[in-house]
Amino acid sequence: MPAKGDRETVTHFPPSGHSSAHPTAAPRVIVIGAGCIGLSIAWRLASAGCAVDVYDRGRAGLGATHAAAGMLAAAVETEPGEQALLPLTLDSQRRWPAFAAQLEAASGLPVDLRTEGTLQVALTRDDVEVLRAGYEFQRSLDLNVAWLSGAQVKEREPWLNPRAAAGVLGAADGQVDNRKLAVALKAAALKAGARLHEEVAVEALSVTGGASTGGRAEGVVVDGALKAADVVVLAAGAWSRLLAGLPDGAIPPVRPVKGQMLALRMDPAQPLLRHVVWPPKCYLVPRLDGRLIVGATTEDKGWDDSLTAGGVLALLEAAWRALPGVEELPIEEMWVGHRPGSRDDAPILGPVPGVAGLVMATGHHRNGILLTPGTADLVADHVLTGRVDPLLEPFGIGRFRK
Ligand code: GLY
Repeated sequence: MPAKGDRETVTHFPPSGHSSAHPTAAPRVIVIGAGCIGLSIAWRLASAGCAVDVYDRGRAGLGATHAAAGMLAAAVETEPGEQALLPLTLDSQRRWPAFAAQLEAASGLPVDLRTEGTLQVALTRDDVEVLRAGYEFQRSLDLNVAWLSGAQVKEREPWLNPRAAAGVLGAADGQVDNRKLAVALKAAALKAGARLHEEVAVEALSVTGGASTGGRAEGVVVDGALKAADVVVLAAGAWSRLLAGLPDGAIPPVRPVKGQMLALRMDPAQPLLRHVVWPPKCYLVPRLDGRLIVGATTEDKGWDDSLTAGGVLALLEAAWRALPGVEELPIEEMWVGHRPGSRDDAPILGPVPGVAGLVMATGHHRNGILLTPGTADLVADHVLTGRVDPLLEPFGIGRFRK
């Protein structure tokens, strides 16, 4: 990975087998998946003059994007083993303010980006030890985190359990309302000229030749007919590996990682929290409209979408320990989502070696909302120019073939 300020550009356009003799001409693009990743790429490409068709087997923005909590926590969510992801998450976090402003201007709709910061909280002495270890790890990576005493934590969030013993503030770690984000992205993409095909399943990717002989994606099959494109972007989240027609080596190893969540209703005039708060065993995300999101379980149970007593009990108990006032709050909603988790939990981005015209934008796991601006800009740039930004390079699907 080149050092900051020393970014080189790798050009792969026109990819081998690509028929265009005019690399600068706007390609016809099909995006599979209308979550925040697919919609944002479609918005960027349609704004750049591409003819863009987006297909989704369901309704736009109602998959993992709808289920998410919207945390933009590049610092406090970084755990040991995730260092390789940091250049990408930090880059995308830096893009968020301008991205949100552009999106709100383009769509005329709010996305409620909030910048109060994220507070990790320790309640017991054992929690303090765990928090201290995480803090030291994050400091060793030069992340923007600050240690707070129990008194400083309570100054910032007076409704927290009075026994709160310490905290870590991630001042740059904010949040966005992911459901509003989806609505705004859909509106912006449509305004820019993208065509959205909801509840239309793509039956297969159509590839000429074979992966080993230099195949080329020529479009997708819908209702038995070929829809031709110069570039197909696979952004179908946890469904990505189920697309028929993907050659060997182009099947992204993405699986659904179940998360149960719920929303409580606070009085928006007197919210119990302002920061995103991470006590032990849950996170709490206060929205401007008074919703308090409580998440989330992490379960390898395939497509199971049942809410369980154990899952909800664990979340509510953890929330109540940290913020006793939740006891009085009405439960507004409970739901299950499926994070698109890859084999190494990092996203799969960029061109597919051996399959010209196929571009991956999937496997974002816990970081789909955080990584939306970076993915949109870097993948759109690749589609338009053939360049592979150095930030994308470590996340190609080729890493799973080694
Ligand atoms: N990023 C929060 C979660 O995956 O639950």
